[in-house]
Amino acid sequence: MICKDRVVAVTGAGRGLGRAHALEFARQGALVVVNDLGVARDGTGEASGGPADDVVREIEALGGKAVADLGDIATDEGAAGLVATAIDAFGRLDTLVNNAGFLRDRMLVNLGEDEWDAVMRVHLKGHFLPLKHAGRYWRAESKAGRAVDARVVNTSSGAGLLGSVGQGNYSAAKAGIVGLTLVAAAELGRYGVTVNAIAPAARTRMTEEVFAQTMAAPAEGEFDAMAPENVSPLVVWLGSAGSREVTGRVFEAEGGKICVMDAFRHGPTADKGARWDPSEVGDVVKDLLAKAPAPEPVYGAG
Ligand SMILES: NC(=O)c1ccc[n+]([C@@H]2O[C@H](COP(=O)([O-])OP(=O)(O)OC[C@H]3O[C@@H](n4cnc5c(N)ncnc54)[C@H](O)[C@@H]3O)[C@@H](O)[C@H]2O)c1
Repeated sequence: MICKDRVVAVTGAGRGLGRAHALEFARQGALVVVNDLGVARDGTGEASGGPADDVVREIEALGGKAVADLGDIATDEGAAGLVATAIDAFGRLDTLVNNAGFLRDRMLVNLGEDEWDAVMRVHLKGHFLPLKHAGRYWRAESKAGRAVDARVVNTSSGAGLLGSVGQGNYSAAKAGIVGLTLVAAAELGRYGVTVNAIAPAARTRMTEEVFAQTMAAPAEGEFDAMAPENVSPLVVWLGSAGSREVTGRVFEAEGGKICVMDAFRHGPTADKGARWDPSEVGDVVKDLLAKAPAPEPVYGAG
């Protein structure tokens, strides 16, 4: 019960990873706001309350408490509504898990402007707006003299950290979420809020085709490394009071593996103390690159 009585909102919690997180938070004693717009894998189709309502029923069947929120978290109204739902139903908000999203994969040369915009909107704006409204609420609580011990867990992706062929829009949005996480951790720390990000890998409707092609299904009784439930223990711990000292970090989570991502450190540096002549730069850069670790391969490249 590492989240006993914490009020937790999970976006996109009607299916896949978000559903697994919501159920694990409930098992760990949290009161859960299950947000989901109920759209198709590519974000199209009629919004539907079905998936969020189903997860609320599953949590209630476990003996937990949950409420559905059917808002579009990439709108100001939907994001503000999410925070309001938590406060109306359970009196406060302690943890926000930004997870909702969808894909529109294409090679860059074929990628339409609408496909770029839709993916940017749901992932980047869909992280920024709930983060902003939750942050405003926690700032007000802190200024009113009430103790805040709040958590945000954002959802990036290996595609955002290393790149992924055919996912230029998604990789750019997921890399943007890492930048947003760093800034939010620095800005909200003073109000008692930590902000971290995960890069998960699991078999959901988003990835089942890829994993079916590249990975054998687990044999009967074998550990199912790609089950979404494997990612949730890290998310639930990051959403708990116990992770107070951890902020501004990015973790990869898959199967039984938890990895701290160590990207964008300053590497080998040359400083002439004056402006370089363009003819000098080539040798200097080649020397620096020889001293730096080689980049990890882009997913799907080669
Ligand atoms: N599955 C993986 O291996 C993997 C890898 C890296 C990152 N991710 C990320 O994890 C998150 C969850 O993905 P998943 O694999 O569980 O996908 P999923 O399609 O199973 O679930 C996503 C849910 O988000 C909901 N949603 C979409 N737009 C919404 C909106 N505007 N407002 C509210 N809800 C909305 C959908 O209805 C859906 O139920 C996504 O951000 C995804 O990019 C997943």
